[in-house]
Amino acid sequence: MQILNGKDASQAIKDSLKLEMAQMAVQGKAVPHLVAVLVGNNGASETYVASKVKACQEVGFKSTLIRLEDDISSLKLLDMIMDLNRDPDIHGILVQLPLPKHISEEEVINTIDPSKDVDGFHPNNIGRMILGHPSFIPATPYGIMLLLEHYKIETKGKHAVVIGRSNIVGRPMSILLSENRAQGNCTVTICHSHTKNIKEICQSADIIVAALGRPNFVTADMVKEGAVIIDVGITRVPDSTKKSGYRIAGDVDFENVAPKCSFITPVPGGVGPMTIAALMKNTFKACALKHYYEEAEG
Ligand code: GUN
Repeated sequence: MQILNGKDASQAIKDSLKLEMAQMAVQGKAVPHLVAVLVGNNGASETYVASKVKACQEVGFKSTLIRLEDDISSLKLLDMIMDLNRDPDIHGILVQLPLPKHISEEEVINTIDPSKDVDGFHPNNIGRMILGHPSFIPATPYGIMLLLEHYKIETKGKHAVVIGRSNIVGRPMSILLSENRAQGNCTVTICHSHTKNIKEICQSADIIVAALGRPNFVTADMVKEGAVIIDVGITRVPDSTKKSGYRIAGDVDFENVAPKCSFITPVPGGVGPMTIAALMKNTFKACALKHYYEEAEG
C-alpha cells in the first residue's frame, strides 16, 4: 500500500508554476491576480480561502480577499462580481461556497465571466469540459486527476466508482475519469443516496472516489484487494483532544481500508492540497490566456 501524498504532489506543481512565473517576469508581463470573495464567517470557508491566498503568495501570484457581511444583498454581490469581471487587472474570480441561503449560488456562478471562472463552475466551462474542449476544470476533480498523473496510476479500462454527485466534485469527476485521455478511459459508476447495493458496486471497483461528506462511510468490507482509494471527505468532527475542538474526518475508514488497497489518499494531506494546486494552475492559465489574446490582437 502506498500513500498518495497530496502535499508532495501539490508542491511539485507549485514549484513548476514558480518556474513559469519567473519566465513571465522576464517577459515583463502582468502576474496572475486571483480575487477570492468570502461572504459571512463560515469557519471552514475561512480556512479554505486562507489556504488559497497563502498558495498565491507562495507561487508569486497577486491575491485579493474580499470579505462581505452575510446579510449582503444578492444584487450588491452580483454588482460587485460584474465590477470584477470588467477589471482588466484581475484574472481569476472565486466566490467561496456555500453562500447564505438568501443568495442564489446559481445566479452568482452564472454572473462570473467564464474567462475568469477559475473554479470552473460556470455552465460554459462545465459544458466545454463535458465536450472535451479546453476549459477551466473544477479544482477538486482536476486536482485528483493531477494526483493520479503524478503517481502514474493506470486508469485505462478500470472500473471507477464515484460516490457523490455534487456539481463541484462527483459529476465532473465522473466525466474526467471516463474521458479518452491518459488519466481517463475508466468505466464509471456514480453512486448516490438512492443507489441500491452500494457495497456490492464498490466491491467491484478498481478505483473509488468517495465524495459524499460522511465520515468513515467507506469501510474495509466494501473495498476490493488492491483498489485505489481517493478520499475527498473533509468533515469537521468534534474532538475535545484538539485545541480547535474538532478534527477533519474523511469519508473512508482509513485505518481498516489502507491495508487492503494499492494506493490511498490520507485526510488531511491528500486531496485538499491538490485542490489548491489545481486552482493555482487554473489561475495561471486564465492569466496566460489573457496575455495570449492581447498579443494576438496586437
Ligand atoms: N466550496 C467547497 N469547495 C469549493 C471550491 O472548490 N470552490 C469554491 N468557490 N467554493 C467551494
